Order: sequence, then C-alpha cells, then structure tokens
Amino acid sequence: MRVTMIGTGYVGLVSGACFADFGHDVVCVDKDAGKIERLKKGEIPIFEPGLDDLVTRNVREGRLAFAVEAGEAIRAADAVFIAVGTPSRRGDGHADLSYVHAAAEEIAGLMDGFTVVVTKSTVPVGTGDEIEAIIRKANPSADFAVVSNPEFLREGAAIEDFKRPDRIVVGTEDERAKAVMNELYRPLFLNETPIVFTGRRTSELIKYAANAFLALKITFINEIADLCEAVGADVQQVARGIGLDKRIGNKFLNAGPGYGGSCFPKDTLALVRTAQDAKTPMRLIETTVAINDARKKAMAGRVADALEGDLNGKVIGVLGLTFKPNTDDMRDAPSLDIIPALQAMGATIQAYDPEGHEARQMLRGVDFKDGPYEAVEGADAVVIITEWDQFRALDLDRMKLLMKAPNVIDLRNIYRPEDMRSRGFRYSSVGRG
Ligand code: UDX
Repeated sequence: MRVTMIGTGYVGLVSGACFADFGHDVVCVDKDAGKIERLKKGEIPIFEPGLDDLVTRNVREGRLAFAVEAGEAIRAADAVFIAVGTPSRRGDGHADLSYVHAAAEEIAGLMDGFTVVVTKSTVPVGTGDEIEAIIRKANPSADFAVVSNPEFLREGAAIEDFKRPDRIVVGTEDERAKAVMNELYRPLFLNETPIVFTGRRTSELIKYAANAFLALKITFINEIADLCEAVGADVQQVARGIGLDKRIGNKFLNAGPGYGGSCFPKDTLALVRTAQDAKTPMRLIETTVAINDARKKAMAGRVADALEGDLNGKVIGVLGLTFKPNTDDMRDAPSLDIIPALQAMGATIQAYDPEGHEARQMLRGVDFKDGPYEAVEGADAVVIITEWDQFRALDLDRMKLLMKAPNVIDLRNIYRPEDMRSRGFRYSSVGRG
C-alpha cells in the first residue's frame, strides 16, 4: 500500500516508520523544511527508543521517504493519514483543529483516484464529518472515504505499542475503506490483534474515553495515596491488592505527582468541553482535571514540609524533569509546576535530566547539571520528579555524602523507605504513611 503521513510529530513519525516496517511505501510530509532536511539526513527530532534505527533501516531499504511538498505523495497514495497537532485552544480548552482543517484542504486539492483519508490525530467527535465536508466542498468529484483510526501509543514505548497494540480501532462504514485499513494492518491481524470496526464518531470518542479513563485511574490512586499517608497505609500494596482483581487491572495505579504529557491534560480538557457543549457534563472528568492541576501545584509544599516549612536560601537538587522517563517531552510536566513554586519559596534549584535539553529552554533560573551526582551535591534536599531507571541505580551512600543534609523527597516511590532510613536519609515518598 502507498501511505502518505501528513505531519511528522510524535504520532506521524512513529506511525510512518512502523507502516514502512510492515512493508508499505510511506512518505512522511511536513511543512517544516528544516525538520524534513534533518530527517533526510537521519537525524530524529524526538527522543524515542528504537526510532532512529527503524527510520534509518526503512529509508535505506527504500520504503520510507520525507518530503516538504505533499503533491506527488498524495496523488499516489491509497491512504493519507492526518497526524498533525491538535493542541488545546487558548482560552477555552477545546481542541484546536486549524492544522487538521488545513490538511483536509490540501488533500482535497491533490487526491487522485479512490483515497482513504485517515485521522490519526486525536480529534473531537464529529471532526471526521467536518473533514468530509471540507474535501467534498473543495473537490466535489473526489472519490474518497474519511476514516477515524486513533493512536494509543505511549511516548517511550511507542514502537512496541504500535507493533503490539492491545487493539486497533477503525471508524468507518465504507467497505472499500475497510479493505484498505485491513490491508494496512495485516501484519498485526496475523498476530491476532483485535480490531474494532465501528462508526466514525464512536471511534473518535473511544480515544478520548480511553485517555480520560486512564487519567481518572491515576487520579484515583493519587487520592488513595493521600488517604494512605493520613491513616498509615501503603498505597503500593493497596494498588497491588486491588490490581489483582481482573476487573480493575494492575496498570496505571502508580501514585505520583500527577499526570502530565502531551495527551492526558489536553484530551481530558477537550472531552470536558465536548460534553459541556453536548449538555451532558462529565463531572467525573471535570473533577479529575481539577484534582490533577491542584496536585501538581501542591507538590512543592511536600518539599517545604520536609525542610520544616522554610525553603529560603535552601539548595534543592532535582532529579528528572521530563513528564515521564524515556522521553525528552516537557509538555505539562509536573516539574514545570514544582520548580517555579520552589523558587518562589526562596529555593535555589540545581537539576539533572538524562534528556533535559527541552527543559533547559522551559525552566528559568535553574542550574542544569550534567549528571545526577552533580545535581545532589551540596543540596539541602533532593526531589525525584521523574523515575528514570538510572536514578533507581544510584549509589545512595555516595549521594548522601555529597548532600548537605540527607533529605530525599521521592515523588515516584523508586526507593524502599526502610532501606533509605537505614542508610540515614530523612525520606518521604507518596502514599506510604
Ligand atoms: C498516553 C496514553 O497512555 C496513550 O495511550 C495515548 O496515546 C497518549 O497518552 P503518554 O502521555 O505517552 O501516553 O504517557 P503515559 O505513560 O500514559 O503517562 C502519562 C502520564 O501519567 C505521565 O505523566 C505519567 O507519569 C503518569 N502516570 C502514568 C502516573 O502518574 N501513574 C501511572 O500509573 C501511569
């Protein structure tokens, strides 16, 4: 199959490279000429384990190409994927669809022969209808079908998630489009990956419902963690105790500083707005959003508590800045709330993240260090915000010797409280009362 991917952001680039690896001919298109130039040279603009090898191999084997001009690629394509950004619209939290609409306009003017137009971007219910109307208006004789095919990949595990998904969701009632989608994902059906064929609006909603449910699950365990601290219980054992119940499941029950990232914060907000517009408000998700925002802001208070409420003139070493490990993505990262709040309380911040280049652009007044031990040296307290594996394996005795005072505030529960105390740390973590 010939596939054109509009947008080489996270989803577009990973999906394009994986489709090429399935044996399809893929062209990834982006208006950002600098980005396309870099991709052509084999430079990957994001940090995602395994992506550089996958791209290099498929380019070398002639299945994956990059272009600024979409014309030829769209004319030749069996399927054109829209994988452009849908950021939160400033002011109201609705998804901003301007890039999606622009892509639809462009495709309309260029498509040739039966073409399946697939939305991979996360788009509100009804967007497929809008795309169809835009194309129909711009090119009344076009032969096409618009399909919703949401992506569920996680940053840091994106290739694995694409190649071994729990399910594939395809929203269309068009039989020719179904045949194209079946062919595109054929290697996965051979592995018996379930495919959910459904209506387009239902498919669009499945994506939001999935992200909202996961955000809710995390928020639930975070509130249980607070209760555990108050009553002297252990949230990790509660999570295990409930997670073994198959109806609940053990995933996404890690308590922490609140969820961040490119999807959960924006998608929960967009779902809330959609539901309000439809006059069926989703109070559970409204509350989830509010609790999570407040939680991220409250985390600095935990650091202050560990230092008797006074951060003035104190040096805080921060380990981990990205919204989660194995990514360089800083979107809605808890560190963006926690660090300015610590600074406002008078603390000086020295920080380290293994992929901290984006963080350097986004956090002001922080002394960025080149390694974890440099970041803890001379610190009155160390805060762990992101659970990178290398922090689990630190030489804790060395760390203690380097610190000015042995206070550790672990917002990801990567160490064992008994172990930390026996080494002489004053250790606080999340939900282990
Ligand atoms: C998420 C969805 O998992 C994915 O299916 C969707 O396509 C995009 O959004 P991603 O944002 O990459 O993926 O990361 P994810 O691993 O889901 O984590 C999101 C946030 O939740 C992170 O800030 C993470 O630290 C937090 N989280 C996750 C927890 O606090 N506890 C958990 O148990 C799991």
